[in-house]
Amino acid sequence: MKTRGLIDIAELSTEEIDVMMDVAEDIIAHPQAYSELCKGKKLATLFYEPSTRTRLSFESAMLDLGGSVIGFSEASSASVSKGESVADTARVIECYADIIAMRHPKEGAPLVAQMNVDIPVINAGDGGHNHPTQTLTDLFTIKREIGHMDHLVIGCCGDLKFGRTVHSLVTAMSRYPGVKFIFISPEELRIPEHVRSEVLDAKNIPYMETTSLEDVIGELDILYMTRVQKERFFNEADYLRLRDSYILTPEKLISAKKDMRILHPLPRVNEISVAVDSDDRAAYFRQVTNGKIIRMALFLKLLGITK
Ligand code: NCD
Repeated sequence: MKTRGLIDIAELSTEEIDVMMDVAEDIIAHPQAYSELCKGKKLATLFYEPSTRTRLSFESAMLDLGGSVIGFSEASSASVSKGESVADTARVIECYADIIAMRHPKEGAPLVAQMNVDIPVINAGDGGHNHPTQTLTDLFTIKREIGHMDHLVIGCCGDLKFGRTVHSLVTAMSRYPGVKFIFISPEELRIPEHVRSEVLDAKNIPYMETTSLEDVIGELDILYMTRVQKERFFNEADYLRLRDSYILTPEKLISAKKDMRILHPLPRVNEISVAVDSDDRAAYFRQVTNGKIIRMALFLKLLGITK
């Protein structure tokens, strides 16, 4: 299904993603040429779940395009705490803003919002489901760091069950030829069955699953680390048991390829030792900058604005 906004990364064709990445490169080269393009436009950020990067990157992306921003960052400060539905909140916000970015703990909430308004709604993360703009960030980072998207061995490590960024990344990367996935997780946090059947098996994408990072690190072109998603666990004991399953250290990187890249959507808890940060292969802070730029390109696309 194609929506007016961006609810699922599968809504975007490879060509549309390529065009956005070209625009993003042009923004980096000529930021001044973009600084007024969204003058008079207003973004509403409706965040019902905690966020640092995602919300601030959406907001700074709109400000860097000359637009303005309204919104809330805690459900408790919004009318949802009085019992308002997502549909009603979206209808109200539509009277004030030109575009919405929504993060919500319930899967499908941004889609419900989109079905009730005519302005574009961007899914900024819905429960353990999807996170399409993090994926645009990841794709743009892979393009900039590695130079191409095809024929890559991508290792996804950590909480592959609840990690929505991994679900969207697998969907997006499986469109490029020659891509292979290695999923590294504890038994309890394996990649969900729906991602396996609807994406990997449906498209005949080669993948393997393992519990050992050390066994496979030498094969990887990209290592996508993720945090164990504490907020989606039902009990604290399970979280504590699984939290430290993988900790990437300089020692483990000795057997990795010299041109492998380490990505992480952040926040990091302790799955990457800070000693790794100074390794040239650590791309996760560069990834943050890319996230703002590609969101600028997305706003321009969804609002139909060209340079
Ligand atoms: C991710 C998310 O919210 O899913 N963070 C982000 O948007 N950069 C990953 C996470 O919270 O672990």
